[in-house]
Order: sequence, then structure tokens, then C-alpha cells
Amino acid sequence: MIDLQLNNKTHDEERQGEALIVDGPKIRNGRKLYIESYGCQMNFADSEIVASILFDQGFETTGDYKEADVVFINTCSIRENAEQRVRNRLSQFGAEKRRNPKLIVGVLGCMAERLKSKFLEEEKLVDVVVGPDAYRELPQLLTEVESGHKAINVLLSREETYADISPVRLNGNGITAFISIMRGCDNMCSFCVVPFTRGRERSRDPHSILAEAKDLFDRGYKEVTLLGQNVDSYKWKGKDAQEDADIEVNFAQLLEKVALISNELRIRFSTSHPKDITDEVLYTIAKHNNICNYIHLPVQSGSSRILDLMNRTYTREWYINRIDAIRSIIPDCAISSDIIAGFCTETEEDHQETLSMMDYVGYDFAFTFSYSERPGTLAARKFADDIPEELKKRRLAEILLKQQQTSLYRLQKFVGKTMRILVEGTSKKSDKDFCGRNDQNAMVVFPATEGVLAGQYVNVYVDRCTSATLLGSVVAQEPEMV
Ligand code: SAH
Ligand code: SF4
Ligand code: F3S
Repeated sequence: MIDLQLNNKTHDEERQGEALIVDGPKIRNGRKLYIESYGCQMNFADSEIVASILFDQGFETTGDYKEADVVFINTCSIRENAEQRVRNRLSQFGAEKRRNPKLIVGVLGCMAERLKSKFLEEEKLVDVVVGPDAYRELPQLLTEVESGHKAINVLLSREETYADISPVRLNGNGITAFISIMRGCDNMCSFCVVPFTRGRERSRDPHSILAEAKDLFDRGYKEVTLLGQNVDSYKWKGKDAQEDADIEVNFAQLLEKVALISNELRIRFSTSHPKDITDEVLYTIAKHNNICNYIHLPVQSGSSRILDLMNRTYTREWYINRIDAIRSIIPDCAISSDIIAGFCTETEEDHQETLSMMDYVGYDFAFTFSYSERPGTLAARKFADDIPEELKKRRLAEILLKQQQTSLYRLQKFVGKTMRILVEGTSKKSDKDFCGRNDQNAMVVFPATEGVLAGQYVNVYVDRCTSATLLGSVVAQEPEMV
């Protein structure tokens, strides 16, 4: 496996258009792959699987699409603007293809799955369309394109987890990495396109998850984030690798197994679902110092009526009960959320309930969205998208403002404390500063100190903060917070 030292962004549900590059050994087939990814962390993890499959075919990756033989765009369908960005980018690749007709342009991921062969009709420059469960077929599909045909495979699978494929770590910092533990989603949130683009939920063999985590740790990685659309419903049944016994592993047990690899390996995970997160998971987090005290628990709305229309299968009271459980079992746990403004029929009272839920929880961080109707979803079929854009915008602005205030308040609570930080590298703004995250996922920036290297844990005394970052310096004393 190969790594390249570059920035590795986390905590961004809808990352956009980052080119992923990796240096390969010199004996290759001379062909170059450019792959650009949009959407959630799972899509970025998939691009690492795709790179691995093509790497085995002799491809190298490049960060410049103008020198590529194959350009892949790994797409997201979650909101209309995510799709629009991909369309705009495709027209740029079209210009390149007119210059270099041999260039192969492929659309991968959720938009490929949603639009299927329509993509080939609508975007003439696209040669190949591949859904998220068909990446093993990429070599054959590329051969088909080379023989002068358009190629498509958008079959969804009930089994595919790419468990045996070792991802090529793209744009990594060599310290933090993502591990997919499951694919698909069996929930049917009425606003959401994911069940249609990613198919049925399936859990990956825990032996392969543990092997991947252990391999990363052996190669110097210090943090893994376990990924799934709903990690709490992780469930795997099968044979134990060592003993000839049937075993069943749930998410809490998987977390514990990964945590036991080493106390020096930090564990994060995303996304938790309010209906499925159990006290067992919370006690497991509390029990292991190296499982980070941070839970992303999207609420979507604070109104039980809207939650019902969203088919989230929990109520405001249920969500509050889960928050109370987190606060009592893991007292210093950071909590973040996803919130949608302006879902169908949302009244001013419903909106106020979202704001009061934000007050109740005091989220450390939140991703906030304006409702975007997605074709084919339950909501698109059953309800009118009846909240005017202006109103959605106003409500979103109110949610954002509240979140900014709460995020600042949460960060200020860290000021005056010493905490353990995993150094991820130099800060984006200055190479004289290091950056890293605390256990609660807050970014901490501090002057580079002699003898301190990326990948080490250091104790940092935080003396001030901005609206998004903690600032401080390395100290010798023991941390008050791990
Ligand atoms: N599996 C995760 C969410 C994945 S999608 C979960 O259940 O929480 C990430 C976020 O995008 C969602 O939590 C939701 O807030 C937002 N989202 C999904 N569909 C949307 C839509 N149609 N309009 C606006 N936001 C949407
Ligand atoms: Fe979409 Fe709901 Fe599944 Fe999340 S849990 S991916 S919001 S259907
Ligand atoms: Fe987007 Fe697909 Fe992820 S729709 S958010 S890339 S699962």
C-alpha cells in the first residue's frame, strides 16, 4: 500500500471535487488515472477501492486530469446542488475530451446509480457509468470502452463489501484513515436518496475490518474512523476465523475489538442513528479511552410531526432520551448533528422545535441543509415541496446562527484546559504551526515544537479559541482530558 502526505479533511458530509493522487512504483502500464470525488466519506473511501482495483491493472494516479488517460468522477446525489456541481465539472472534462478524443471519462457512485443509462444519453462525453457495487467490473468495462463501445454496470448487490480489497490510501496524511464497515442503508428516510443509490444494508466481515485496522496501525496510522450510513445497525454473522464456531458481532462488539488492537490507536465512527444507538455502544465508548468521546447523531428536525413525515422512526422525546443517555454515560462527549430546514409542511412551530432542540443538546457542531427534493424518494412521491425557497433560507440562517453561537460556546469550554492531541501535521495556514484534534474532534492549532512529530500524541494547554479552532501550546504536564 502507498500513501502520500497531503491534507486529509474530515467532518464534512459533502466534500466537493477533490482530486485524489497516489505515487506508484515506476514499473506500471504507463496509463494514468485521475479520480475526483464528491459527497460523503464513504464515497471517498470507495475511490480508494477504485484506485486499488486500477492500480492492480498497472495504472498510476495523477493529480492533473489534463495528463490522464482515464478520468473518473465519483459522484453524489444527496442534494440537487451536489448533482449540479458534477454536471458543471463534466462540461470541463468535455472540453478536455475534445482536445484529446482518446480520453476515457467515467461517472461512478451515486449519480451513476440514480441516473443509470440516462447518463449516457444526457452527457454524450461520458464513456462509462458504474454504480457503487460494480467497481470490481471496472477493468472489463474499460476494455469494452477501448473497443469502441459505451459501457455500463449499475447492478446493486446484497453481498458486496469489497472486504478483500486493500484500499490505496489517497491524499492521506499517513496518520488518520477511514475504514468502511458496511454498505447501503435499509432505512427509508423519506427525503433521502441513499437507499436507492447504495442499495440494501450489508455488514463487512469483522475479520477483514480488524485486519485493515491492524495493518494501518502497523504502518504508523494512529486513528481510524469506522464508516457506515447507520453504524449502530452493524451486524455480522458467520464463522470465527480461529475457532470453528458461529459468531455474531454487533457494533458495540466491533468497536471493542478495534479498540483492543492498541491503546495508541484512536477510534472514531460515523454515522450513528438515534433509533439504533444502544446503551451498550455508549458503555463501550466510556470503557475504552481510545474510543473517542464524540458522536455524530443527526436529528434532522426537532419536531415529532416532521420526524414522522421524514420516516425517521423516532420522536423528539426518544432523541432527547438518547442525548440524556450519552450525557450520563459519557459526561464529556461531544455531539454533532445534521439538520434539514424547510422539509415539506414544516410550520414555524416545527422550526422553533428544531431551534429548541439545538438549545437542549448544545451541539458541538452541525451540518445544516435546506431541504432539496430528490426524485423517486418517498417524500417526492407523497408530499409537495411546499416551503418557499425564501422561507427555507431564512430558517436555515436561523439554524446556522444558533449553531455558530453554540459551537463557540462549546469551544470556549476547552479554554484553560490541558488535553491530549494527536498531531496530524502542519497547520493549513502556517508551517510553523501544528494541528491535531482532541478526543472530542475539536481542531487544535499550536506552535510546532522541537521533538514533536506528526503521528505523536502531545499534551496541549489551550489558552484561547477562534470560532472554529482551539489555540494553545505543548506542555509537559498530564492532561486533564484524554
Ligand atoms: N446516514 C446518515 C445521513 C447520510 S446523508 C443519517 O441517517 O444520518 C447526510 C445528511 O444529508 C443527512 O443526515 C441529511 O441531513 C442530509 N440530507 C439527506 N437528504 C437530503 C435532502 N433531500 N435535502 C437536504 N438534506 C438532505
Ligand atoms: Fe438516508 Fe436515512 Fe439511510 Fe441516513 S439513515 S442514509 S438519512 S435513508
Ligand atoms: Fe452522496 Fe451517495 Fe454519500 S448520495 S452523501 S455520495 S452515499
